[in-house]
Amino acid sequence: MSIKKKTLGVGFIGGGFITRFHLRSWIGVRKADVLGIFDVDEKKAQEAAALARKLKVGEARPYKSITEMVADPEIDALWICSPNFTRNEVMEEITEAILRGKGELIGVTCEKPLGRNVKEARKMVELVQKAGLLDGYLENQVFSPAVVKGKEIIWARGAKLCGRPYLARAAEEHSGPHMPWFWEGQLQGGGVLNDMMCHSVEEARFMLTPPGSSREELTPIKISAYASCLKWQQPAYVEHLKKISGGKLDYANRPAEDFARSIIEYQDKQGHILVVETSTSWCYVGAGLRLTMELLGPEYSLQINTLDSGLKVFFSRQVKGKAGEDLVEKQNAEVGLMPVIGSEEHEYGYTAENRHMVESFLEGKRPAENFNDGLNVTELLMAAYMSIEKEKSLPFPPPGLDNFIPAVAKGEWNPRKK
Ligand SMILES: NC(=O)c1ccc[n+]([C@@H]2O[C@H](COP(=O)([O-])OP(=O)(O)OC[C@H]3O[C@@H](n4cnc5c(N)ncnc54)[C@H](O)[C@@H]3O)[C@@H](O)[C@H]2O)c1
Repeated sequence: MSIKKKTLGVGFIGGGFITRFHLRSWIGVRKADVLGIFDVDEKKAQEAAALARKLKVGEARPYKSITEMVADPEIDALWICSPNFTRNEVMEEITEAILRGKGELIGVTCEKPLGRNVKEARKMVELVQKAGLLDGYLENQVFSPAVVKGKEIIWARGAKLCGRPYLARAAEEHSGPHMPWFWEGQLQGGGVLNDMMCHSVEEARFMLTPPGSSREELTPIKISAYASCLKWQQPAYVEHLKKISGGKLDYANRPAEDFARSIIEYQDKQGHILVVETSTSWCYVGAGLRLTMELLGPEYSLQINTLDSGLKVFFSRQVKGKAGEDLVEKQNAEVGLMPVIGSEEHEYGYTAENRHMVESFLEGKRPAENFNDGLNVTELLMAAYMSIEKEKSLPFPPPGLDNFIPAVAKGEWNPRKK
């Protein structure tokens, strides 16, 4: 694709939590201005647009619809950041607007997960191709500076002299999502496995793949997984969820998993067996969100723990301030010895992710992380749910994967009623 634009005009769909993260990251993104926000809640669109202008990352204004953003010649690309249950309808409106000649775009990016199941994720790939747009899958963790630098060093030194890494472990844990819809299996697509294991499986696969090689270098062979609801089915927490959702969440009868792990066995082109081990939870109560990663090979290892930050603060019990998220995402306390991450947007990979998407679109190239990767991740997650339901290890891809909907996404999963 040949692109004449020198600066990309960007519109966001959804003006909530993750859009605010992207907007804050944008101060490190060149050659792109945030010009529009569409949110079904107009107030959210106004607030996000005001934040973009305050941060000086673009003269953003709220739009009345996705089609209106597509029709504006100033807007060249859209970032899909609305909830999981809106994926297909959002992409359908974009495709429809393009095919009906309402306007033109260069590309679209989409937050994780690409779909709530394989069918939805595949539809995203089909629609973006039908519209003839470039596509980026927003998996921030494969752009995190520690992951990128760590991979570079491990492969250049350890793997080069002693053999490739064979085991990657990734975990993402916090004390639970910030909005009720994340907790609802039908709306979100699952529980913590769908919400957070998408990061861990992709980050771990990325680490095990040689630098510069494509995704096809590794073939998934086998998968086994486990899930339970350890904390949020306890009566006091069932009540809490009921309260924060105006009575809608019913974790006594329709819980989603708050803990999940998986083991994925891969094979590389030389026939080496490689293992990815992931663990995710919504029942980890520490300082805040904790991302850990390990990469192990014959004579070396790497480890990352985002809560081992260089900056720590201490507040005595006399400091009785308000609850906030100013030290770390999903913060759980304001007193004692607390880690602080200097720039979460940078450390978690959002800045480099958005730079890569913008540069790719301006060069007319498909981003390195794209909808096909999002689809592959969804296939792995759905195979993990199948393994949980069948209580056994499954060959990959298991039969029936394309039309599989996890029991948790149908409101039919309850580990206490086995
Ligand atoms: N990369 C990450 O680590 C990360 C972190 C959080 C969320 N996410 C993903 O980002 C997406 C949004 O999550 P969030 O935390 O911002 O949620 P949120 O609930 O905070 O914000 C979502 C916003 O979208 C709006 N919305 C709802 N339906 C819409 C529609 N049809 N069109 C336009 N706007 C609509 C809502 O009014 C809300 O303001 C989810 O898919 C989530 O999985 C990714």
